[in-house]
Amino acid sequence: MAELVPVEPFDIVVFGATGDLALRKLIPALFHRWCDGQITEDSRIIAAARDTMSDEAFRELAATHIVDKSMSDERRKSWTSFTQLIRYTALDVSRDGEDWNDLKAAMDPNEDKIRLYYLALPPSIYGSVCAGLARQSLNSWNARIVLEKPIGSNYHTAREINDKVGEVFRENNIFRIDHYLGKETVQNLLILRFANYLFEPLWNANGIDHVQITVAETLGAGKRATYYDRSGALRDMVQNHLLQLACLVAMEPPESLEADSVRTEKLKVLKALRPITAATVPNDVVRGQYQAGAVDGEKVPGYAEEVGHDTDTETFVSIRAMVDNWRWAGVPFYMRTGKCMASRRSEIIVQFKEIPHDIVGVAKGTLHPNRLVIRLQPDEGVKLMLMTKDPGPGGLRLRYVPLNLSYAEHFEADYPDAYERLLMAVVRGNLSLFMRRDEVEAAWRWVDGIIQAWDEGQAKLYGYQAGSDGPTQSALMLDRESREWFDGLSR
Ligand code: BG6
Repeated sequence: MAELVPVEPFDIVVFGATGDLALRKLIPALFHRWCDGQITEDSRIIAAARDTMSDEAFRELAATHIVDKSMSDERRKSWTSFTQLIRYTALDVSRDGEDWNDLKAAMDPNEDKIRLYYLALPPSIYGSVCAGLARQSLNSWNARIVLEKPIGSNYHTAREINDKVGEVFRENNIFRIDHYLGKETVQNLLILRFANYLFEPLWNANGIDHVQITVAETLGAGKRATYYDRSGALRDMVQNHLLQLACLVAMEPPESLEADSVRTEKLKVLKALRPITAATVPNDVVRGQYQAGAVDGEKVPGYAEEVGHDTDTETFVSIRAMVDNWRWAGVPFYMRTGKCMASRRSEIIVQFKEIPHDIVGVAKGTLHPNRLVIRLQPDEGVKLMLMTKDPGPGGLRLRYVPLNLSYAEHFEADYPDAYERLLMAVVRGNLSLFMRRDEVEAAWRWVDGIIQAWDEGQAKLYGYQAGSDGPTQSALMLDRESREWFDGLSR
């Protein structure tokens, strides 16, 4: 049974507290941990943003994202008690004004208390926030800074930000969030690979034909269009979430789950990624943008219409990546992500090699290679596809069937969401679920190569209908190598 161990008392300052991330994810995450008794009463939540408002007004704003008619009385009571932890302070982080004193006054003066500064802000102002905290001497030894992705928009801006933050906080007090690393099923990747003997001997170019990583969303850019239009799918999703997943699949066994062991192994994968250049980008990368269509039966406008101007930002990207090391020589890692796709699903598919010799002599096409399907969301689970004999008389028939581990059937369905887990990990000082500086920078170096190739004029943008699986060119990319994208649940 899961055991909820309370964390030590802490003060958390949420910068950008009136923004989407804070209201939709962070405050609810803290509330859920409060309800489960993990946060003690002597903790404080200090919401900081530019607008002037009272504590009560902020609590009411936060409530609009949490409290609804269906909420039980008990939960309502918990919400009321939880709000007593929340203070609001108006702060313009770009200025060295009086409001920094107000922030300091809202915090517990005890310098030994754990302090968390969560920057739910654009990365371009991370430096100003750190400078402000340093001026107030709020960067005490036990203070941790949490940086949201994306850190920068390329290698150089990421370095600048990391340098500025690094002037105020030690690397071990910097928690760079990639919320995918907080997902239960993503954490299970390490366990699946390294707590089972079964896979590791085959987990290499001798046993594996290729790997597919898909993160498909049904939603469009929505309210975040201003940010998204400057970013696009490559920077928003590939630089962080998809590459982190690829690292967990491709990395060598770490000595332990200790943060630096894991992070060093992930870094090696990022460094081994074959650079994509202007010469290779037309074959290895497909950019797409959704056009009007229907998702889940609802009509959806095209992306350009949604953002209100002509734009060549990609809302879909698929990539054929190679990890140039001994283990993965010749094994493509196909990655794709997109908005307004046919269905919401994130999954990793490991396609094993075909058997070397067919003793059965069945019709061509009836023997399928083993396939491991790791479904990250929704319908979390792991499936290992195997060939079996179809029981019963009538000649020898083979069937391709799953050994199926469904989370819903096997485990308590209700486990903490990624942000809940990550926030508690920051309080505990557990860095293994966060990205180290060199990882973020190595990921940008590889992604920058693609952006540069696009800038050199190889940035063809293909349309795809909202509600589809992306541009047909993405399917052709695999077809050229006699492969196809799989929908792991369909079998
Ligand atoms: C965020 C991206 O990091 O991840 C969003 O900025 C995306 O564009 C989101 O929608 C997807 O996260 P999840 O947990 O819903 O798969």
